[in-house]
Amino acid sequence: MSDRSLISAQNRSAEIEARIAVDPSTFRVLTGDRPTGRLHLGHYLATLRNRVRLQGLGVETMILVADYQVITDRDEIGSIADRVRDVVTDYLAIGIDPTRSTIFAHSAVPALNQLMLPFLSLVTDSELRRNPTVKAEHEATGGRPMSGLLLTYPVHQAADILFCKANLVPVGKDQLPHLEQTRVVARRFNERYAGGAQIFPSPDALLSESVNVLGVDGTKMSKSKRNTIDLAMTEDETAKQLKRAVTDSDRNITYDPENRPEVASLLLIASTLSGRDPVEIAAEIGDGGGGGLKKLVTEVVNEHLRPIRERRRELEADPGCVARILAEGNTRANEIADATLAEVREAMGMVYTA
Ligand code: TRP
Repeated sequence: MSDRSLISAQNRSAEIEARIAVDPSTFRVLTGDRPTGRLHLGHYLATLRNRVRLQGLGVETMILVADYQVITDRDEIGSIADRVRDVVTDYLAIGIDPTRSTIFAHSAVPALNQLMLPFLSLVTDSELRRNPTVKAEHEATGGRPMSGLLLTYPVHQAADILFCKANLVPVGKDQLPHLEQTRVVARRFNERYAGGAQIFPSPDALLSESVNVLGVDGTKMSKSKRNTIDLAMTEDETAKQLKRAVTDSDRNITYDPENRPEVASLLLIASTLSGRDPVEIAAEIGDGGGGGLKKLVTEVVNEHLRPIRERRRELEADPGCVARILAEGNTRANEIADATLAEVREAMGMVYTA
């Protein structure tokens, strides 16, 4: 991703935010997660909060549990159903409202997956091999051979987005290549198979409102590194985990992201969740050192997550409710996908009736 295309995506995102404020009904958002485990504060600050905000603004939102994406690069997956239930429970706990947003799993939507076939015909293997996110994910597997699904998952992701004709996809920087791939697929489909008719829109990325924080070991927050603060943790577990957080030896707390990234990340967590300026929070802690900083962050995190955790416990006590909400979302996603696939087969001359 060049700096120039990143800046242009950022500018475009700002324009779109302004249009959402005027007329949210012109947008359909699709977002999603790989269900590899419980969601954590990193997810919450980078994307989940923003979904609740968009829902609140009245933007129609489709939320995908990308269960097929779990098997792109690993053998040991454990119980997918448990992971999916955890993620859906987290969504509902943070305030995703199933009467306004559709939560679904793409494996439960056959017509979505069938779109993958015509879409695969529109891309070349060298295009896929060049995808920087696929490359990075493959490298992270430490020498595993590239699976066919890992190589082609950006095309599957195009099906995730285009099956419902979403025109807006809130993403982090790492997902921008996939969005570009989706736009290419949409454009080529319209040209090659639909005689230029606009069957598929060209979706935009929405990069705004994302806050990136570090895990307690000072590296990217990630489940596999056990450095996360999970939405589902208790207050004691949160305190214990934050006690481990890496800081530095300077007792005087200052907000200096460049030179003190670990301290700055903790301040950013407190600042984002409390709506206060990080510089002001740092000044308040002053000579309190890492201990004072962690104490404050623990209080802010636990306070902010308290109602979310409360809802989460209620939902856990009623697994039938979570299952029903997902089943309803799947039904709705299937209706949309069936309609789109019918249109695609019509455009491609693949409707055979007696
Ligand atoms: N690849 C995304 C991730 O790892 C999850 C995802 C799957 C997704 N399909 C999508 C995101 C479609 C946006 C749009 O987080």
